[in-house]
Amino acid sequence: MCAQKVELRQLVKIFPAPGGTEVRAVDEIDLVIEPGEMVTFLGPSGCGKTTTLRMVAGFEMPTSGHIFIGNEDVSNKAPNERDTAMVFQSYALFPHMTVEENVGYGLRFRKVSKQQAKERVERIMELVGLQGLGKRAPGQLSGGQQQRVALARALVVEPQVLLFDEPLSNLDAKLREYMREEIRRVQQELGITAIYVTHDQSEAMALSDRIVVMNAGRIEQVGTPQEIYLRPATRFVADFIGKVNFLPCEVVSRQGSGALVEAFGRQIAVADAPELSGKASLVVRPEAMFLDKGEGIPVTVVSSVYLGSAMEIRVELPNGDQVTVYKSNPNLQEVFAAGEQAFLQLDSHAVHLLPN
Ligand SMILES: Nc1ncnc2c1ncn2[C@@H]1O[C@H](COP(=O)(O)OP(=O)(O)O)[C@@H](O)[C@H]1O
Ligand SMILES: [Mg+2]
Repeated sequence: MCAQKVELRQLVKIFPAPGGTEVRAVDEIDLVIEPGEMVTFLGPSGCGKTTTLRMVAGFEMPTSGHIFIGNEDVSNKAPNERDTAMVFQSYALFPHMTVEENVGYGLRFRKVSKQQAKERVERIMELVGLQGLGKRAPGQLSGGQQQRVALARALVVEPQVLLFDEPLSNLDAKLREYMREEIRRVQQELGITAIYVTHDQSEAMALSDRIVVMNAGRIEQVGTPQEIYLRPATRFVADFIGKVNFLPCEVVSRQGSGALVEAFGRQIAVADAPELSGKASLVVRPEAMFLDKGEGIPVTVVSSVYLGSAMEIRVELPNGDQVTVYKSNPNLQEVFAAGEQAFLQLDSHAVHLLPN
């Protein structure tokens, strides 16, 4: 299997909508996915993830723009003329065929001898952890096992690009976490280029080399999970990925690649900040703040909820806004009761700055 680069250039898909209007489902997407890279399209329902993926697979033709796989422009090629394979949310297995027959199905249409096909099916079944289940019917398998069959069936044709459209949405939470690790392991073992679509941010974080955050047909940000989480480029990204607090502040001065800002009368150094001046927002994750008894921004505790691994504390800022603070590994002796006064401190390495 030879990993290929995938390139989307000015990709647009417009659908007709009721009343003679139109939907710009995908709106000028530019992206290069490197050979062997796993990239996730992440965003809310309706933002254009599936449409983008279906254009890469050839199930949907672009309104304009181009798709390259390797150096080949495949924009107007039929699905069977491209070397892609897709794994869907509904496993789409053939119920009347055995697991083996399902896995080997795609090889029927390829120039592969019976013996070669048998060997490939065996090898792939072992890779995805389906040894010994070949003679069963899909109906005799668990949801997780059925999804492995769907994955094996996609891999057996040795595609250049593997596509996933929310493949784990039908599984329960525990199995979903397990299967995402399995998918990542298989993708890395094969070194195959993969595009994964999900609306689940933790899935995207766990699986991806890079995440593409989409909103209304457009790319909001492309970056590693760390970049997306710690340095969100827009409020939308900050809000979509995990919990986040926005604190009003004023930029005092630039300091190298960072800035000094003032929030509620206190000066805070932001290690890495975009070029901004005047009023801005500090972007702070709940786990990057803590409550102190003596120093910091004066706040009033509104509520605290014990979550086992953390205590989630809501506090009110001097301007009346509320923010959330996580205290991990909470000590139950250290209680923050509603109405209590405390002081909010920020971890200056974990704060980020965005325009208002
Ligand atoms: N075949 C279609 N005809 C008309 N509109 C469509 C079609 N497919 C998708 N859309 C619209 O395009 C937008 C993007 O849809 P989709 O790509 O399925 O989003 P996502 O996968 O991110 O939930 C939505 O507004 C959706 O209603
Ligand atoms: Mg979708």
